[in-house]
Amino acid sequence: MESTIKKIGVFTSGGDSPGMNAAIRSVVRTCAFHQIACVGIYRGYEGMIEGDFIDLGPRDVNNIINKGGTFLKSARSKEFRTPEGRKKAHDHLVGAGIDALVVIGGDGSFTGAQIFNQEYGFPVVGIPGTIDNDIYGTTSTLGFDTALNTVVDAIDKIRDTASSHNRLFFVEVMGRDVGHIALNAGVGSGAEEILIPEENLGIDRLLESLDKSKNSGKSSSIVIVAEGDKTGKNIFELKDYVEQHRPQYDIRVSVLGHMQRGGSPSCFDRVLACRMGVKAVETLLSGESGYMVGIRDNKLNLTPLDKAIKGHTKIDKELIRVSDIMST
Ligand code: F6P
Repeated sequence: MESTIKKIGVFTSGGDSPGMNAAIRSVVRTCAFHQIACVGIYRGYEGMIEGDFIDLGPRDVNNIINKGGTFLKSARSKEFRTPEGRKKAHDHLVGAGIDALVVIGGDGSFTGAQIFNQEYGFPVVGIPGTIDNDIYGTTSTLGFDTALNTVVDAIDKIRDTASSHNRLFFVEVMGRDVGHIALNAGVGSGAEEILIPEENLGIDRLLESLDKSKNSGKSSSIVIVAEGDKTGKNIFELKDYVEQHRPQYDIRVSVLGHMQRGGSPSCFDRVLACRMGVKAVETLLSGESGYMVGIRDNKLNLTPLDKAIKGHTKIDKELIRVSDIMST
């Protein structure tokens, strides 16, 4: 593959997600395969502004495919939002001979990449890395599958206590703006009710659903609450509300928090990371830029970065219906 690109920089940005290390490894090894150089940029845009770079060869990424987090570290940079910050970053990239970038992150990271691409004509390709699965143009982001397995595992454990003590548990899962984790993990763990930002069914509907569960003979229940849910109450206020209106329940709250973002990536996320890394580098080498690599129907695709940023993912309505049926 003949290309004018001779050195690619790779970095992780925004919230970390399982599979980021596997994606870095893939980018590094694809560069080596095509006999071009690869440079790791530490701490996302912060490291770019400071010129905090490291040369990476295929042996530098041994034994990281199975590691959570990102060894290049990640950050959210305020300075990169300014033209002065981006100028410093550009100077460092040019100084190091880097002529294209692979950014692994979420929509905030892609926004930075898109601006940089337009401002300097700098070739950029994105790989979606976030547990939230909230990026348009792909049915799976890196880390989503692992996070689902982590959440299901945690809820299985919580269910043991719920059922031993006839308790009602409210479990909060991540998902600032979207309910993909809540809905999928909720169905996968057999939750009785799932509250997601996309569907505000109201608190009274929750009470009705709990009554229905109890009347059908259930002695314990799990309610999954996405952190961005729109009931207008946080999970502790929800507990208080239900306690006031249904004092017969023994209620506990469990906030899963950042444990959902860590851990060894699932096989699905590892394979996806390998595939996306290859596609990202080969897209740049073929002279294309300003795209995000995604997957749909098990085929990799490219979505223009501005579409990936502006577009919204849709919640699976059929899965909501399935969840309703399963809680019968
Ligand atoms: O976007 C990923 C995510 O894990 C969200 O689900 C969550 O709201 C947010 O990051 C938490 O970010 P931070 O680690 O900066 O608190």
